Amino acid sequence: MNSVSYKVVEEKEGLREIAKADINCVIWQRDVPEWVKQLPKAVFPAVDICISPDRELDFIKPRLSRYVGSQSTLYLTEDIKALLKIYSELTKCRQARIRFLSLDKPMCPGFHTDTLVLRMICTYIGTGTEWLPDEHVDRRYLGNYQQLEDQENPLILDVSQIKRMPLYAVGLLKGSRYGSDTLGVVHRSPTWSSVPYYRLVVSIDGRE
Ligand SMILES: [Fe+2]
Repeated sequence: MNSVSYKVVEEKEGLREIAKADINCVIWQRDVPEWVKQLPKAVFPAVDICISPDRELDFIKPRLSRYVGSQSTLYLTEDIKALLKIYSELTKCRQARIRFLSLDKPMCPGFHTDTLVLRMICTYIGTGTEWLPDEHVDRRYLGNYQQLEDQENPLILDVSQIKRMPLYAVGLLKGSRYGSDTLGVVHRSPTWSSVPYYRLVVSIDGRE
């Protein structure tokens, strides 16, 4: 298996780097707009849908509008629509699963890889997803020692190298099913966040 690295890009076109075999994670850093800064820390309704990428997302709006107001709902829906377009163009998927994860505790606090091909992820409220560059991971310990403190965890070769996606950045993370020549990104939910813990994360996965 080849070694892999990550890439941080400033333009959405840079997300195409994910097609390279030696890249398993691309982060598109975006300036955080005012509407994102103002999103309320409300518990959002669960959204977990599988749709064709060319389908309009307007049907989500009524589910969101009473939580974030109509203007924020519009921005949020438009943003997710744009991300879905980028994701489907990159992957040529026929179906996409979109999830709104409204989290009051870390969903996956232990470092792991996802059992899927490629995930797009964006944190709209709270602290972003954490990941480890491959050279700082000892993959022999994946799935073990998740209860240990970072300093004691043999999976983490250098604690200071744990990276965190910025708010509103768009991450593309390869999973273990991407292909036999690529290693999935080792990542986790941030174990701390603002108090009380609260995050709003949107993920997009492809489906055949
Ligand atoms: Fe994950």
